[in-house]
Amino acid sequence: MEIATTMEKKNKILVLTGGGDCPGLNAVIRGIAKRARKEKDWEVYGSIEAFNGVFSEPTEIIKLNRRATAGIHVRGGTILKTTNKGNPMKFPMPQPDGTFKIIDRTQELVDRIKKLGFEAVINIGGDGSQRISQALHEKGLNIIGVPKTIDNDLSATDLTFGFQTAVQIATDSFDKLVTTAESHHRVMIMEVMGRDAGWIALHTAIAGGAEVCLIPEIPYDINKVVKRINLRYRGGRGFVNIVVSEGAKPKDGTVTATAGEKGSEHVRLGGVAYQLSRQLKDAGCHAEIRETVLGHVQRGGSPLAFDRVLASLFGVHAFELALQKKFGRMVSYKNNTITSVTLEEATKEPSFVNKSSYIVKAAKGLGIAFGD
Ligand code: F6P
Repeated sequence: MEIATTMEKKNKILVLTGGGDCPGLNAVIRGIAKRARKEKDWEVYGSIEAFNGVFSEPTEIIKLNRRATAGIHVRGGTILKTTNKGNPMKFPMPQPDGTFKIIDRTQELVDRIKKLGFEAVINIGGDGSQRISQALHEKGLNIIGVPKTIDNDLSATDLTFGFQTAVQIATDSFDKLVTTAESHHRVMIMEVMGRDAGWIALHTAIAGGAEVCLIPEIPYDINKVVKRINLRYRGGRGFVNIVVSEGAKPKDGTVTATAGEKGSEHVRLGGVAYQLSRQLKDAGCHAEIRETVLGHVQRGGSPLAFDRVLASLFGVHAFELALQKKFGRMVSYKNNTITSVTLEEATKEPSFVNKSSYIVKAAKGLGIAFGD
């Protein structure tokens, strides 16, 4: 879609969503648009598929007016679409022979955005997206970040929207697996998302009442996991429910991954449940085992009320930062309030589950084994 032209002198702000989608993205977009409407001299636009909308010829940029944003906060996904293949720092440029050449298009992007007349940009995305925000800011772009990830693995914010929704979806599925595990005296393995951080698995294990929780931060000893399972089968019949992060790995072992799609920076995780199942059998687990890989179900559908609220507040705050010309910052939720941090701080370190943290100790207190 071509960018709308106007004779009035308005400040224009460009919004985009990058990386994997996440419940709550639309609530952020609506929050920005609604808050901006209170200022008479601002107009909000959205770039389709992250920055690709700016690179497209013609550009794919839409006006985020009342009609485009009304009621979208209840919808999953993102009305602006997204991609994890459009990193302008390492842009995969398709070549005539079908291969990709990686080039840096950041300066070109900044120039294009300025030429299109945008005063500011709001980039809604995870750590990768915020590193892009930082690089663009260093090249002179007025940019503000909004953190997004179901993995909740950014240390600059106590919570990211989408996480609670993902945990609820995983917990609902876990509950269903408990009743079938019990009926068949089986070991049920449920694999959840969590590339490097085990937050979704840990919260689901506590909420659902798992016997075993395996996460990337705590490599597991398969013999200890089998020992824990066997304890539950002491009387002959038992059942066990395991939650495993897609990024979990055995001690001295590797994560289950396959090559990413062409142009993607990441390997694809998924399938650790099957690997674990085989390892359990090899290590002497005699019970029947079944595997469930939840996958992208965790990222789909309507956000929970909590995530709608957090995302809406992030949207309002992001626009207000733009209004105050506080660029180079990322919105954050800290100590029960909405604030912001510099993009540099925002991307400094991820938030991983700490083996000695209160939450892991409490989980162990509840009888959950980590295989350590
Ligand atoms: O970072 C969020 C996340 O959902 C990870 O937990 C997962 O590994 C990844 O995205 C999956 O990405 P894709 O949608 O590209 O398969």
